[in-house]
Amino acid sequence: MRHLISPLDFTTEELNQIFDLAASIEQNPQKYAHVCDGKILATCFYEPSTRTRLSFESAMTRLGGQVIGFSDAGSSSASKGESVSDTIRVISCYADICAMRHPKEGAATVASSKSLIPVINAGDGGHQHPTQTLTDLLTIKNLKGRLDNFTIGLCGDLKFGRTVHSLIHALVRYPNIRFLFISPEELRIPDYILEMLKERKIPFEEVIRLEDVLPQLDLLYMTRVQRERFFNEEDYVRLKDFYILTTEKMKLAKEDMLVLHPLPRVNEIDVEVDDDPRAAYFKQAQYGVYVRMALIMTLLELV
Ligand code: CP
Repeated sequence: MRHLISPLDFTTEELNQIFDLAASIEQNPQKYAHVCDGKILATCFYEPSTRTRLSFESAMTRLGGQVIGFSDAGSSSASKGESVSDTIRVISCYADICAMRHPKEGAATVASSKSLIPVINAGDGGHQHPTQTLTDLLTIKNLKGRLDNFTIGLCGDLKFGRTVHSLIHALVRYPNIRFLFISPEELRIPDYILEMLKERKIPFEEVIRLEDVLPQLDLLYMTRVQRERFFNEEDYVRLKDFYILTTEKMKLAKEDMLVLHPLPRVNEIDVEVDDDPRAAYFKQAQYGVYVRMALIMTLLELV
């Protein structure tokens, strides 16, 4: 039995198989409409979510399966003190596969160690968000035609942004990727990631001003400042609008640069940018359904 806890749990070859399956699902959804007949997905979300939870639910429903779950810890027995380990043992009796989001780093790992069914990490604290990474990689592959040879700027909250951490871990396995980390000092990318890049001799730079590097980028990955992970509101208010991508700034970017964002957006991308053909974030959300369908099929060994 396999789980997805980190983007590194699949080889690049296995990821390609998932992306090929996602492409096939997109082209011919009817072919896959009953592959999960009789199967149940449990969505155990101890933290708020729109995209991840609903795209998993949409994915399982489109595959013919059914969904059970909870969308906040307060409506589960976690509010009475039940541990993640006990919860997953019980969920294993009710469902065939589980997608779990939890505010604590490592919660999905703990769950997978006790689970009798595949566990998918749907985000654990500020640590990892591997299914967002699958979504991001599929978007880049489909819209750029490759997963190598580019300069990517990651901008915003690089300290707490788990989507950023996951994506970097996945991208280092592809050749000739250069990272530009764009953040205020307080929200710098964690040192352990910089150390990993140095060890692997992967080029990166840290900068503060987005405008200084925008013309160099093939991909711009914007992120929101993660209010829920701040210790005080004052720091959040000071940093929340540090970056705002506008149509004016987009004039500095390459004509074929893609703007990605895991969403939700707050203020960091002006809504006017949505009309720019380089804005790919809503398409990205759409790819999230296909890739989660492919992931569910893969983990349930229905491929
Ligand atoms: N991208 C993402 O994880 O969005 P949600 O928090 O809405 O699931």
